[in-house]
This record gives sequence, C-alpha cells and structure tokens, in this order.
Amino acid sequence: MKNDQVRLNCGVTMPLIGLGTYSYQNDRKTTESAIHMALKMGYRHFDTAKIYGSEPAVGNALKEAISDRRVEREDLFVTSKLWGSDHHDPVSGLKQTLRNLSMEYLDLYLVHWPVTLKPWARFAVPNEDEFEKLDLESTWAGMQKCLELGLCRSIGVSNFSSKKIHTLLDFASVTPAVNQVEMHPMWRQAKLREVCGDHKIHVSAYSPLGGPGNSWGSTAVIDHPTIQSIAKERKATPPQVALRWGLSKGSSVIVKSFNEIRLRENFVALDLKLDDHDFLQIDKLEQWKIMRGDFLCNDTTSPYKSIQDLWDDEI
Ligand SMILES: NC(=O)c1ccc[n+]([C@@H]2O[C@H](COP(=O)([O-])OP(=O)(O)OC[C@H]3O[C@@H](n4cnc5c(N)ncnc54)[C@H](OP(=O)(O)O)[C@@H]3O)[C@@H](O)[C@H]2O)c1
Repeated sequence: MKNDQVRLNCGVTMPLIGLGTYSYQNDRKTTESAIHMALKMGYRHFDTAKIYGSEPAVGNALKEAISDRRVEREDLFVTSKLWGSDHHDPVSGLKQTLRNLSMEYLDLYLVHWPVTLKPWARFAVPNEDEFEKLDLESTWAGMQKCLELGLCRSIGVSNFSSKKIHTLLDFASVTPAVNQVEMHPMWRQAKLREVCGDHKIHVSAYSPLGGPGNSWGSTAVIDHPTIQSIAKERKATPPQVALRWGLSKGSSVIVKSFNEIRLRENFVALDLKLDDHDFLQIDKLEQWKIMRGDFLCNDTTSPYKSIQDLWDDEI
C-alpha cells in the first residue's frame, strides 16, 4: 500500500487526499475542468453527493479520462452520499446516483446526515414539515443491502457524533468504514477520533481548511496567526499546514478547489513536515462552535438541530 493511502476496516484502500466537489455555484464546466486538472496532478479520490448536484460533472469527467486511457476505473476512488429523502430506500438512492455518475459502482457510499426527510424533500435546507423521525436501523439495513448487491465497495456515515456511532454499532452487521465530518485545526474532533479509532472507523475530514467561502465556513483557520506563523517557518502556506495537520491525525482530507494553483498547493501538503512543537501550538487553538454551530443548531427551526450532539462532542 502506498503511503498516500489508508486501508479501511473492510480492506479497501482510499487515497488520503480527496477532491471535494461541492460548490454553491455548481457550474458543470468548471467542475469538469477542475477534475481533469486534478487527475493530471495525481488526485485519484473524488467526493460528491446527490444533493451537491455535482454527480453528472464528476461522472462525465472521469468517464472521459477512462475512455482516453488516462486513468483506470480501478485506480479511482469515488464517494457519494445518501440524502435524507432517500433514507427509506438506499438501494434506489444509490442506483440513481450511479445513473447520475454513469458508473457501475461507488467506492464508498455514506449516509450524508443522520437526518431523515420526506421522500419528496428536494432542498439542502428543507422545510420544518419535511422532517421524519430517524430510523437508523432501517436506513443502515438499506446501506448494507447496497454493499451486498455490489453497488458500492464500502459503506459509511457522515456527520455522526460519537453518541450516534454507538447507537449504530448496537445493531450494525457491517461496521461503517468511514465517518466523514467537519475537521480542521479549529474543530479537532478529539473525542470522536478516539471513539472511531476504538472501532476502526476511519475519520475523514471535510472542510479541512474551515470551508472559506461557504455559508457555514470562514477564513478563520487559514488566517489564524498561529497557522500563518507555522506556515512561514516551514516555508509552506497556511492551507498546507491545515491539511498536513488533518493528515497527521490519520485522517484523509476532502478539500475543494477548482483553481489550478490551489489544487496543486493542496496536493503537495502530503510532503510537508510539521514537528511536535507545531502540533502543540495547534492543539492550543480555540475551537470554534461559531458559524457552523450557530448556523445549524441554535436556530430552533434549523433542520439540523438533531445533530446537536456532534457539537457537544467537542467539549
Ligand atoms: N459530508 C458533508 O456533510 C460535507 C459537508 C461539507 C463539505 N463536504 C465535502 O468536503 C469538501 C470540502 O469542503 P469545503 O468545500 O466545505 O471546504 P474547504 O475544502 O475547507 O474549503 C474550500 C474553499 O477554500 C478555497 N480554497 C481551496 N484551497 C485553497 C487554498 N490552497 N488557498 C486558499 N483557498 C483555498 C476554495 O476556493 P477555490 O475553489 O477558489 O480554490 C473553496 O472556496 C466539499 O467540496 C464536499 O465534497 C462534505
């Protein structure tokens, strides 16, 4: 196994740097061109989701690369996610995703949020009356069926707190291979990493730069004076320091850039070396519950208030 990969609990290997494809602008051409640039630089792991609307662009770009023999399907790692409105029937949800991607299988299929929605709910921020009670046991049974049918090589979860991981493990026949959560130097997920580590669940870090430009994110991480000063000392950039921090915790990092220079900058974070002093300084950074926590949880009408315990893990 190469040192830029991790072996998941099911035996499947996953490249440690993944390209995120969520963009609120959702421009198909830009997404496809970013994927072609990323493939050229060595990216092999691509992260999408039905709700992002980026599945057709990801699928199309990868299909072109495969048919031009620039890459083999077996060398790619493609992740997508089950949206809340498909919790009732994960197999159909995944079949739709595969049609969107024009692919025969996924490498990883994740339960996007521990949130169930009415089958007709269409938007990322649903209306209050579109929520249903989460029946995790039946959703997970559907995910296991996806695996059994060979529609994906591994299954996992996303945005699951340690409490929800424990609940899931009470009835799961297949342990999730991955828990994809927001993680960066200002949301370090120490407790969650420990719980997942005990059960050999790989923690994958999304928004590893703090999600600048997104409604829930900010530049607080990459603008932080500590991150800036470590970067200066190491002759690196603040985003590289943030990414290297995530990798040093044994996590994969799912970072989004559609810009050629930043795509390259992020990919070479694998080569950066930080020392114990750098890590100690990062461990002292204030953790944020700001932005994302307020945005999703403190508003009593927020659809995502049911995942309050993910924020409580931080304490
Ligand atoms: N499971 C979930 O619920 C969930 C939630 C959120 C995200 N995700 C996944 O994780 C991916 C990444 O998360 P994210 O997009 O929220 O946050 P992120 O990767 O931390 O940040 C992306 C933003 O940072 C900019 N950027 C990237 N590299 C940079 C660099 N070297 N210097 C300066 N700016 C840079 C990007 O702009 P440019 O494109 O202009 O470079 C973009 O605006 C998503 O695309 C998605 O695939 C999953």
